[in-house]
Amino acid sequence: MEHELQSLDREARQQLAGITEISQLEDFRIRFLGRKGQFSTILRQLGTVSDTDRPRLGQMANSIKKEIEELFESRQEAIRQAAATAAEPASLPDLSLPGRVQAAGRLHPVTQIMQEICTIFENLGFSVAEGPDVELDYYNFEALNIPPHHPARDMHDTFYVSDSILLRTHTSPMQARIMENSQPPLRVIAPGKVYRCDSDITHTPMFHQVEGFLVDRNVSFADLKGVLTVFTQKMFERDLPLRFRPSFFPFTEPSAEVDIACVICGGTGCRVCKKSGWLEILGSGMIDPEVFRMVGYDPEVFSGFAFGLGVERIAMLKYGIDDIRLYYENDQRFLSQF
Ligand code: PHE
Repeated sequence: MEHELQSLDREARQQLAGITEISQLEDFRIRFLGRKGQFSTILRQLGTVSDTDRPRLGQMANSIKKEIEELFESRQEAIRQAAATAAEPASLPDLSLPGRVQAAGRLHPVTQIMQEICTIFENLGFSVAEGPDVELDYYNFEALNIPPHHPARDMHDTFYVSDSILLRTHTSPMQARIMENSQPPLRVIAPGKVYRCDSDITHTPMFHQVEGFLVDRNVSFADLKGVLTVFTQKMFERDLPLRFRPSFFPFTEPSAEVDIACVICGGTGCRVCKKSGWLEILGSGMIDPEVFRMVGYDPEVFSGFAFGLGVERIAMLKYGIDDIRLYYENDQRFLSQF
């Protein structure tokens, strides 16, 4: 009987190793482990064995049967699993799943408008230059014909870093910086941040300007008007009424502030245009001879125009935004619309 058990053990193990399909599993179970299977048959014969051998043989039979049962279980599990993976179309995507949203960053609306402005002027032949936000008093004021104690300094609400260093209050210092290092003809725009101690629905302490200037022989106010008209047409994609309002800047003569019809209210008056129907978008004028003298240009030979436009204002008009502070509150609901 001991021999029988051993050969049954061997046979069962061999058979089990050869099983590769679910259908073979059941045959095996019936043949070896079932109620009428070979193990049961042997166990039943235990009754005929002598009392001395019975406990040892009984134990042996049970432990072999248990081992085979365990092997059977794990074989069964492995085959089931293999069958399940084979049946599953693992490489096919589930087309019913919702798409995964790619959270992409985007440019701030002010940056977008600034780039648009630059592109328009680049297409008109202007080159782009950038300068420092922390500026010398000299370039921000003196080189622009605003000496110390000049009353025009009052208009600027300047943040001073020291007596001679400040946060630039406009991009005009770039006129002096570029002209002192190059000769006409010049066509340049200089975009960037500017700072003024001022805050309400149309002013923030930091905002953006794009400076533009053109210097050559025989440049006239008509050239300024022409360039600005083309610019507003391209920017707003339509003919918007422009208004040139006489003004004063120490670095231009004559000077004009340019207004555009308020597109928020259509010119009837609202809180953005302060009931005037017009919105100031830039300051401009013919470059003052005194500025030319300071950079070593002969004002008898060269003339030029300059303008400085407010980027936030233009973006407000283009997008119909009625509070400039929205740009700087970092509210995703606002920013993600652009
Ligand atoms: N720098 C002026 C301002 O910030 C605008 C300006 C630029 C005016 C160039 C004339 C010429 O108000």
